[in-house]
Amino acid sequence: MARYAHLAGWGMCVPDHILTNDDLSRIVDTSDEWIRTRTGIRERHIVNEKTETTSSLAVKAARAALEVADLSPRQVDMIIVATVTPDYPFPATACLVQDALGAAHASAFDLNAGCSGFVYGLNVGSSLITGGQADYVLVIGAETLSRITDWNDRDTCVLFGDGAGAVVLAASQISGGVRATVLGADGSGGDLLMLPAGGSRHPASQQTVSDGLHFIHMKGREVFRFATRVMPQATREVAERAGWTLDEVSLIIPHQANDRIIQSSAKRLKLPPERVFTNLERYGNTSAASIPIALCEAVEQGRIEPDDRVILVSFGAGLTWAAAAVEWSMPLPVKPVPWWRVLFSHLRYRWAWLRSFARRALRKLAVILLGPAEGNGWLARLRTHRDR
Ligand code: UT7
Repeated sequence: MARYAHLAGWGMCVPDHILTNDDLSRIVDTSDEWIRTRTGIRERHIVNEKTETTSSLAVKAARAALEVADLSPRQVDMIIVATVTPDYPFPATACLVQDALGAAHASAFDLNAGCSGFVYGLNVGSSLITGGQADYVLVIGAETLSRITDWNDRDTCVLFGDGAGAVVLAASQISGGVRATVLGADGSGGDLLMLPAGGSRHPASQQTVSDGLHFIHMKGREVFRFATRVMPQATREVAERAGWTLDEVSLIIPHQANDRIIQSSAKRLKLPPERVFTNLERYGNTSAASIPIALCEAVEQGRIEPDDRVILVSFGAGLTWAAAAVEWSMPLPVKPVPWWRVLFSHLRYRWAWLRSFARRALRKLAVILLGPAEGNGWLARLRTHRDR
C-alpha cells in the first residue's frame, strides 16, 4: 500500500523585538531607502540574547505545529532541525528540542544545508515516511542569525533576522502531501557565504575573534547571481518531477532573501506576482526558517486552500538549492483549539520539563551511588566496608 507524507501541522515563532531599517541606519552607514529598494526588507525580528536561543524559538514553533496536527510529542518518531545557528556545535539543537517537548520516542538530529536546510529536511522526513520508517516527523527551520551578524558590516547586517517555523509530516495512505523534491549542491561556491571560524579549520582563538571570523562573510553579488539561476531551474525541475505544469501550481513560496531575487525568478518563470508569496519585508532573511515561516503566513492569509499545488524553493550556503512540490491536503481554516486542550498542552510541557529534570537528577544520583565507572561509587565502598 502506497504511503504519503502530508503536512499535517505548521507553526512559527519570531522574537518580539523588531529592528527597523531606521534603527539600523543609526548603527551603520545605510538608509531605509537603500535597504528597501535593494532588498525589499523593512524590518526584522531579533532575539533577546539573554532569554532566547535557536532551540527556544524552535520549541515554540514545534509546539504550535503539534497543536495544529493535534498530535502528542510522544507520537513523534523523528525531529530534524535545519539550522546554521545551533545553540551549540553539539549536542544537536534537535536534541534540546526533543527534550523540551518530551518527545520520548523521537530520534533527533540537526541538518546544515544553509538556507535550503528546511526543504532538505522535508526531503529526508518525507522519504522516511514513504519508506515506512516513520509515521510522524517534525521538520523545523530555526535561526538566530543576529548572533553571528557583524553589526558593523553594512553589507550583511541589513539582511538577516531571527525566527523559526515547523511542520509535522504525517503518514497517510491518502494521496497528497510532499509529491517530489529536488536537492542540489555546489561546494565550489562554499566561500561565497560562510562562517569562517569555530570549526576544525580555524578553531576559536583570540586571533579568530579579533579578525571577525565568527561572523557571516558573504560575497553578495555572486550569491545573487547564483540564486537567480538556480531558483527558476529548481522550480521547473520539481514541477516536472511531480508531473505538474507551472500553470497548475497555485503558489510558489520562495526563500525570502531578497525581493529582487524573488521577482527575477518569477519573471523567468512567467509567474504573476499573486502566485508568488513574499513576507521578507517584515522578517528579513531568516535562512532555514524563512520558508516554514512564509508557509505559516500563507496559510493564515488564506493564500493556500485544500488540494492546492504549492512549490517551496530555496538556495543557500554550501552552495545548496532545494525545492519541494506539495499537494495541500489538510482542511482549512484550522479550527480554534478548545481551552481544555490548551490547558492539557501546558500541563504536558510542564511534565516534559519535570521529566527532563528527573532524568538529570537520576543521572547525578547514579554517579554518586555507582561511581563514574561502576564499582567505585558510594554503594561499592559501602559493600567493601561491610565485607571487611
Ligand atoms: O540566503 C542567502 C543569503 N544571501 C543572499 O541572499 C545575498 C544575495 N545578494 C544580495 O541580496 C545583494 O547582492 C545585496 C543586497 C547583498 C547587495 O545588493 P547589490 O545590489 O548587489 O549591491 P552591491 O553589493 O553591488 O553594492 C552596491 C553599493 C556599493 O557601493 P559602491 O561600491 O557602488 O559605491 C556598496 O558599498 O551599495 C553599497 N552598499 C550599501 N549602501 C548602503 C552595500 N550595502 C549597503 C548598505 N547601505 N547596507
